[in-house]
Amino acid sequence: MNDTAFEARVAGLRARIEGVLDAALALPDAATPRLRAAMRYGTLGGDKRLRPLLVYASGTALDAPLEVLDAPAAAVEMIHAYSLIHDDLPAMDDDELRRGQPACHRAFDEPTALLAGDALQARAFEVLSQQDGVDAAVQLAMIRELATAIGTDGMAGGQAIDLEAVGRTLDLAMLEHMHRRKTGALLRASVLLGAIAAGVGSGERHDALARYGTEIGLAFQIQDDILDVAGSTATLGKTSGSDAAHAKPTYPGLLGLEESARLARAARDRALAALAPLGDAAAELARLAHYVVSREH
Ligand code: IPE
Ligand code: IPE
Ligand code: MG
Ligand code: MG
Ligand code: MG
Repeated sequence: MNDTAFEARVAGLRARIEGVLDAALALPDAATPRLRAAMRYGTLGGDKRLRPLLVYASGTALDAPLEVLDAPAAAVEMIHAYSLIHDDLPAMDDDELRRGQPACHRAFDEPTALLAGDALQARAFEVLSQQDGVDAAVQLAMIRELATAIGTDGMAGGQAIDLEAVGRTLDLAMLEHMHRRKTGALLRASVLLGAIAAGVGSGERHDALARYGTEIGLAFQIQDDILDVAGSTATLGKTSGSDAAHAKPTYPGLLGLEESARLARAARDRALAALAPLGDAAAELARLAHYVVSREH
């Protein structure tokens, strides 16, 4: 797969997930237009769509048709959108800009942003449980994987560590632990939902994908920390320097930019090595691993 083919594939999948999310968020209840508008605002027209891309890449590496991957791809992006809406709230990171626009609580208000996040989370699981023609056991396995990834031992737990650590210095082991949970767990789950949807819920290829997802998850958040220091607000679409301004524990804060970049590349390389059992079928996943650490926003 050359650069042009990869870029065309990614553009096509981004357009596809936009349509799937648009349909999933065309909710009929006319009594709560503001809540529904906030859910759509926080989700549609998103940026990289990395989590859906991982679902599609992992599922198609295991021969699943795209139609089977749409629901898990939408579910992980709705969870991601919810996490960003809550992450930006004054009670958390207190950030005003997201994806180049006012954060949801600025465009609407704080209570609406809280509820939009809550409702997006619920909608994600609803969508996973409503797939026509998909085996109930497969749906349940995806729901369980996603729930575990975003709970106390995953995203929410990682965010709790992040908030408790403000103004303190974490050692590298604790920082890695935090990053693997707050961000890594959902990226890993995205890879695994693609596998489960393809009927690969266990075995050598599943375990290889789990290792891949774990490592790109870590690499992704290290790169996010790096960009917060090295990127501009215009390129990032979110306020650069926000981590330092809020005394957040980060890789560059502890180790400097160069060593952080080295550790991100090392995690990428472990991810690439993990793909060996999938052979050529993993070409797109390998491309995405490179993208995670080379991206500029
Ligand atoms: C930002 O995620 C939040 C983190 C988990 C670091 P992304 O960088 O994937 O955000 P979008 O979806 O592309 O805007
Ligand atoms: C966000 O990490 C992690 C989650 C939203 C779960 P950050 O706080 O670093 O993300 P950005 O930099 O605001 O996008
Ligand atoms: Mg945060
Ligand atoms: Mg933040
Ligand atoms: Mg960040």
